[in-house]
Amino acid sequence: MLKLHTEMIEPFIGPEDFKSAMGSAFSAYDTLLSGSGPGGNMTGWLDLPVKTPERLLADCRLIASRWLGTLDVVVVVGIGGSFLGAKCALEAFSHSFASAGERNSPHIVFAGYSLSEDYMSDLLGYLKKKSYGLIVISKSGTTIEPALAFRILRMDMLKRFGAEDTRRRIVTVTDERNGALRAMSEKYGYTSLSLPSNVGGRYSVLTAVGLLPIAVAGFDIESFLGGAAEARENLLKKEESNPALIYASLRNIMYRCGKKIEVFVNYHPKLKYLGEWLKQLFAESEGKQLKGLFPATLDFTTDLHSVGQYIQDGERTMFETSILAGSKEVEVFVPKSTDNLDGLDYLVGRTLEDINFMAEKGTRMAHTSGNVPNIYIEMEKIDEWNMGQLFYFFEFSCAISAYMLGVNPFDQPAVDVYKNNLYKLLGRPGYTD
Ligand code: PA5
Repeated sequence: MLKLHTEMIEPFIGPEDFKSAMGSAFSAYDTLLSGSGPGGNMTGWLDLPVKTPERLLADCRLIASRWLGTLDVVVVVGIGGSFLGAKCALEAFSHSFASAGERNSPHIVFAGYSLSEDYMSDLLGYLKKKSYGLIVISKSGTTIEPALAFRILRMDMLKRFGAEDTRRRIVTVTDERNGALRAMSEKYGYTSLSLPSNVGGRYSVLTAVGLLPIAVAGFDIESFLGGAAEARENLLKKEESNPALIYASLRNIMYRCGKKIEVFVNYHPKLKYLGEWLKQLFAESEGKQLKGLFPATLDFTTDLHSVGQYIQDGERTMFETSILAGSKEVEVFVPKSTDNLDGLDYLVGRTLEDINFMAEKGTRMAHTSGNVPNIYIEMEKIDEWNMGQLFYFFEFSCAISAYMLGVNPFDQPAVDVYKNNLYKLLGRPGYTD
């Protein structure tokens, strides 16, 4: 199980403040579990780890096995909650230099998460000599970025592979009943997996949104759900030691005492996209009604050589939540050199993991002494089981945190302002005002 470490934030927190915040976290827990709060009909994600239908797992495995060895590339099309979870998981699980997928699985690339013409033209060029398939993910089926990417790629496929073969190369993941993607899937006979209507985009990584790309890339979706199920079992316990309730309480205290920015820190390049996923989860869930912590992300030790200066010595408005992970079984030792001109002989025999750990420790100590309180979460290693736990932990903590702030964790009304302006500027029928 993940471990939440709070000793480096405790000096900043009075016992009375903590008691009162925990009281509020317990009420938020009741609101969440009873479904009685705003957005209470969107809590289907709570049970996904134990209620995912066997049929969905079988479908994911079947699609993965059909494409294994037959497709070079699978393009996963989606944005926001229909993109970041899968991207984060695949970055975490894949070999750092994997360019052609794992275990002979197709190479997974992503599209539909921007409107960049350069990106699309590079992608079309890359796909030119490849046999490729598409997983198109959009709950609403109407989001303009993935809808455009799908149109462009579908037309390319029809030209290259013909209608019947194109049909076999496309899988959609969309709402059970509604939306353009559902209608297209029915009309053209695409294999389609459904999204439960009571799970919103940013809470959907444990649905087909995450499971299908993970399975197609050759990773273990049962273990992924198993880790999430273990986290669920622990976090559903309404007790003072519940790490999600403690974490939500600490965040809430930080916010109330003027630490308005939460910096999510990782020490592994493979966890870079975890930060991107966390940013969406917390910003869209909490940032409303003029409230909410601003989520930022940093990659250490890289950013210690750039933003580190600000963290140590700039405005004192932030606290840090670091995600620490052990390495896999392989150890990389510092070797002996013939001359010690680089002066590193004092590290001979130590592993890079050990040195990274010391960097984490030293940084936490420096930042705490610089008045940047620190929370850290430790996971054993970066794999399917542990990432399943981590996703569930943060989703649960985020929903509790939002209810503690008094906002709906499951809507994002302000996102429509951008969308409506874009539609007006593009002259979409009905948006010309
Ligand atoms: O969390 C959310 O609801 C959003 O980020 C959506 O996931 C994102 O806008 C994509 O929406 P859709 O899946 O409908 O294309």
